[in-house]
Amino acid sequence: MTVHFIGAGPGAPDLLTLRGRDLIAACPVCLYAGSLVPEAVLAHCPPGAKIVNTAPMTLDEIMAEISDAHRKGQDVARLHSGDLSVWSAMGEQVRRLRELGIPVSVTPGVPSFAAAAAVLESELTLPGIAQSVILTRTPGRASAMPEGESLSAFAATGSTLAIHLSIHNLAKVVADLTPHYGADCPVAIVWRASWPEQRIVRATLATIEAAAADGPERTALILVGRVLDQSDFAESRLYAEGYDRRYRPGNTIE
Ligand SMILES: C[S@@+](CC[C@H](N)C(=O)[O-])C[C@H]1O[C@@H](n2cnc3c(N)ncnc32)[C@H](O)[C@@H]1O
Repeated sequence: MTVHFIGAGPGAPDLLTLRGRDLIAACPVCLYAGSLVPEAVLAHCPPGAKIVNTAPMTLDEIMAEISDAHRKGQDVARLHSGDLSVWSAMGEQVRRLRELGIPVSVTPGVPSFAAAAAVLESELTLPGIAQSVILTRTPGRASAMPEGESLSAFAATGSTLAIHLSIHNLAKVVADLTPHYGADCPVAIVWRASWPEQRIVRATLATIEAAAADGPERTALILVGRVLDQSDFAESRLYAEGYDRRYRPGNTIE
């Protein structure tokens, strides 16, 4: 028996990996984080599967469900939104399962920052403009930020920022970032990327608060950086004529 952690993607049911889909279809038990995992993904569960929304449950209650499946020898599909490597609460579950001697597997999913960039048709790293993307958040009720991980510290690098879990803190985000990026720096907010109710607002640090004033207070990604409205950037060396690389040795045609 194995607990399969599966990244369920940003929302659109067809943004699930084939491996994730096949694992869901093979598991008689499915636990899903109902706040962001779309119900349509559950259509892949086999007939008669036990399907449990863990949004209102405690960690102890979730572990009790898994232990019950373990006793019965039933594999579990454990679904979280986006990818599991960021803000999924997978870490604490895997730690408990290791203590219990229950095997796990992990299948990645499409993270929300990638879905938001796709919606904007943007590359978040452009030559000479930004070569790093920082995935971060602002402090929440339940989660303080470790010392050194302030928005100002990240902003000092000039990297592209993908700020999660922070739409309710937009005023503070703008105040912290403006001294580093300048008031004219482009900002895009994408609410519920890839869901039918997806919404996009593009503005600058100076104008984003007014532009987003009537937006929902949940499930949005704030992207900040000069990459967002650049048409003036150097082309990468990757496809440059005369650039010798492994797949085009001696500059032969691709
Ligand atoms: C608990 S975190 C989960 C992150 C997820 N594991 C991922 O890979 O993106 C929830 C936050 O992710 C962002 N998010 C998740 N899904 C999103 C979507 N479809 N569109 C925009 N932002 C999303 C929002 O910032 C939201 O507050």
